[in-house]
Amino acid sequence: PQPSVHTERGRVYASLPTGDTVEILLYGATIVSWKSNGKENLFVSDNAVLDGSKPVRGGVPVVFPAFGPPPKDHATGALPQHGFARNSTWEYLGSSSSESGALSKGGDDSVKLDFGLSAANLSDEHKKAWPYEFGLVYTVTLGKDGLQTMLNVRNQGKEPFEFQMLLHTYFKVDDVTTLQINGLGSVTYTDKVLNATEHTQSDPALKIAGETDRVYKSIKQDTTSVLQGGKPRFDVTRDNLEDTVVWNPWVEKNKAMADLHDGAYKNFVCVEVGAVNGWQRLEAGETFEGGMIVKSHL
Ligand code: BG6
Repeated sequence: PQPSVHTERGRVYASLPTGDTVEILLYGATIVSWKSNGKENLFVSDNAVLDGSKPVRGGVPVVFPAFGPPPKDHATGALPQHGFARNSTWEYLGSSSSESGALSKGGDDSVKLDFGLSAANLSDEHKKAWPYEFGLVYTVTLGKDGLQTMLNVRNQGKEPFEFQMLLHTYFKVDDVTTLQINGLGSVTYTDKVLNATEHTQSDPALKIAGETDRVYKSIKQDTTSVLQGGKPRFDVTRDNLEDTVVWNPWVEKNKAMADLHDGAYKNFVCVEVGAVNGWQRLEAGETFEGGMIVKSHL
């Protein structure tokens, strides 16, 4: 049996002979479902807006070319929070399958889906706010052993540009208070809940016990692991990316977000790999590539 892929009403669906599946919206190239062994790995809010009128509250939105509210004195300054990639409609560039590669050790199949976004796909408003010639290719590979997502950024213009990027993954968990996030010990982070002050992670295991919004920077260890009730649940391995944001809105912020259902904060944690510490500069004709491999333990 071969992997199967089909597109229907703005979504791409792929499945492996093992039964593992992935679903991606062309809007934002947002991965809205990833199941392994029949179990959903990604959280999507019951109140998420899926009609393309605002970014999806859940799954894996792509953040580009700016993370958070862009600084007013930067070239991205007129863009919305987290840029335009998560609220633009991408092009589906096609699929390929293989029996080798990082995610299919031992000859198991994997399927690779490519999505593209360039200035031509942007709204006039976004194009005006960030008038650069760029090309993004986002590759989502579903394998038996995990999910790989890689963002390739190309400067197709004549001027250099600066960007940030991040994969804003909402991991579905049974109870956020039972989590332990490993792999961030001794790392310096900016705490957005504490007025953007700098701290160093002293406990090797990060626990979520309140509103959490931290930007961990220049991380030496490649893998950040999420344990649930003491058992491994997700391993997130960065590829050519050094930063990771850990976010949970907790009770009050949850209530303030219309597209987050009541009590939703208990069932997810965002562990977001990216390049968000300062800016990545791309000269004319240059490319940058970064992403992650996520392994789901069940
Ligand atoms: C995180 C940020 O990445 O995304 C948070 O660090 C932010 O500050 C969160 O609140 C959600 O952002 P948004 O724009 O999807 O509401």
